[in-house]
Amino acid sequence: MKSSLKKIKRSLFGGTNSYYITADKNYFIKVCKGKEEWMEKEFNYLKRYWNKLEVDNFQLIEPIYFSKNKQFIVSRYIDGKKLVDILDPKVYYEFGKKLRIFHEKGFSHSHLEVHDVIYKNETFFFADVPFFNERDHIHDLVSMKLTLNLYKLKRPWYYYKYELCSKGFFLGYGVLNKHKLKKEYEISIKKRVRLYKQRGFIFKFRANIFNLIYKIGLI
Ligand SMILES: Nc1ncnc2c1ncn2[C@@H]1O[C@H](COP(=O)(O)OP(=O)(O)OP(=O)(O)O)[C@@H](O)[C@H]1O
Ligand SMILES: [Mg+2]
Repeated sequence: MKSSLKKIKRSLFGGTNSYYITADKNYFIKVCKGKEEWMEKEFNYLKRYWNKLEVDNFQLIEPIYFSKNKQFIVSRYIDGKKLVDILDPKVYYEFGKKLRIFHEKGFSHSHLEVHDVIYKNETFFFADVPFFNERDHIHDLVSMKLTLNLYKLKRPWYYYKYELCSKGFFLGYGVLNKHKLKKEYEISIKKRVRLYKQRGFIFKFRANIFNLIYKIGLI
């Protein structure tokens, strides 16, 4: 079985779990040690909502199998592009527009990072949903803004493009309370810094860098 799996490399700023794609490119496997409860919750949300969002061209990834014992989730692999790798403001505009409808239907992704959206055949697929519907809509906007700001720094050669994509996204989303967004953004940064600090030496370093780039206005 192992030989028919392709391991995906983790990046320094990526998730802390392991990921595989089956050789036939049909399935995606996320192995997540020590987080059985989150995984079970995620799998149940996927089962309940994956094709029931009722927003055109919006879907969750399709759940296939969950092993609580071995701590992995299998989903159908979407051979598309991560939203973060698409540098087209028009696609972000479309995504923002649809996200508004999704929110108006009462849904929220609740952990929405720009690499967790996979785009294929004009459809947006959401991955990583352990908190689906658990947080206020504003949280999705905050995490989109924050992850796009972080990618501007990680890929500075695309800085300007990400700026345009972010603008496109918010334009598509439409009217919003900018004061509330700013306040929630600040809360989210502070929370992340606190969480990093609780996770040991390397993360403490990351927390300080993160705090610094926020304070000097880079994110
Ligand atoms: N079924 C799938 N098909 C294609 N790509 C997927 C699929 N599921 C997840 N991915 C991609 O793999 C990445 C990692 O998956 P996921 O976010 O669920 O793991 P995670 O460990 O929670 O990551 P993180 O800690 O970075 O949030 C996602 O950001 C997404 O781009
Ligand atoms: Mg993720």
